[in-house]
Amino acid sequence: MWDLLLTNLNAATMTPGGAPYGAGRDAAIAVHDGRIAWIGPRADLPDAAARETRDLEGRWVTPGLIDCHTHLVFGGNRAPEWERRLNGATYEEIARAGGGIQSTVDATRGASTEQLAEQALPRARALARRGVTTVEIKSGYGLEPGCERRMLEAAGLVGQAADLRVSRTLLAAHTVPKEYRDNRDAYVNLIIDRMIPQAASVADAVDAYCETIGFTPDEVDRIFTAARAHGLQVKLHAEQLSDQGGAALAARHQALSADHLEHLSPEGVAALAGAGTVAVLLPGAYYFLRDEKAPPVAALREAGVPMAVATDCNPGTSPLTDPLLAMNLACTLFRLTPEEALAGFTRNAARALGLHDRIGTLEPGKAADLAVWNIDEPAELAYWLGADLLAARYRDGRQTA
Ligand code: NIG
Ligand code: FE
Repeated sequence: MWDLLLTNLNAATMTPGGAPYGAGRDAAIAVHDGRIAWIGPRADLPDAAARETRDLEGRWVTPGLIDCHTHLVFGGNRAPEWERRLNGATYEEIARAGGGIQSTVDATRGASTEQLAEQALPRARALARRGVTTVEIKSGYGLEPGCERRMLEAAGLVGQAADLRVSRTLLAAHTVPKEYRDNRDAYVNLIIDRMIPQAASVADAVDAYCETIGFTPDEVDRIFTAARAHGLQVKLHAEQLSDQGGAALAARHQALSADHLEHLSPEGVAALAGAGTVAVLLPGAYYFLRDEKAPPVAALREAGVPMAVATDCNPGTSPLTDPLLAMNLACTLFRLTPEEALAGFTRNAARALGLHDRIGTLEPGKAADLAVWNIDEPAELAYWLGADLLAARYRDGRQTA
């Protein structure tokens, strides 16, 4: 006996290789023990009973959305910095003058774990209201062992409170904090000797910001080697403002993903393709920084690199809490198709988190993480700007909205 049977629905399964969106019309989904037990055309439904049946009245069901790159937990905000940028200052100038990430670090260090979780909760709830069931949350505004740990703990609390599956990433290598500005090596050693071992039991992955205002490829190489030795996956903020060869470095370490990629070279594209590393596109940051160089989407597509899309929700470059708007930006600014944009928030986002065995498509055996939408066509998910399209959300077969 199934726990739940959803009928009279259209399923965008997002399984590759078949119909666009893996779509099946007039379908049904059976859920048991939190997983998808059966999915297919309603006419083929086996003669099995369910404890509860719900008629979805022709609505579309997709995998619950997966936001695979966020900095959701942080203290304060950077609206004043944004005003300065609108008056002509650049992101790099502000960072070099001790603003930027460092100013969020100052606000974050002053907050308790509970205060950090409380401040992040409205952002997490906003994602959930737009169909997100899994979110990746990075540390990276503590930049000292205690505060980085508090950020990761706050990420766990936020997930519980907003009913989101959370994947946690240590981003201690976000910027060199001001107290180490004259001794970068000591900070890299602190990450390797203290923060990575401390995070190994809490976090799923280690990230770094490979950039002229972040960390050099050599420093990232050392950090990734330590992370892998502690059994952690790696991913990288790469080629956002300049080409540092970060994507190739990430690929050499079998990274789950390389993210941003506006300045990705043809060699970088080939390296990602060879390693099976996901390209995570972050159009919110591109838009908010008024960037003019888009990532090489056609080359990535041509090379068969899986592309994910994420909000990159953070106070400096992407104060964005709407995955559907991120999908629209990916289509309008980067020329993804609406189907690619949805794959970017489902199947390929799952791959970017190493969770593709459990989530990201609608298939028997996968978690029953579902989003139910008031739409006539799947392309509408990327089409409307700011519409309220979610009818219901299920996580592990439980309705949560
Ligand atoms: O993904 N580029 C580095 N990290 C963030 C921005 C962080 C910040 O400015 O606070 C990003 O764009
Ligand atoms: Fe980021």
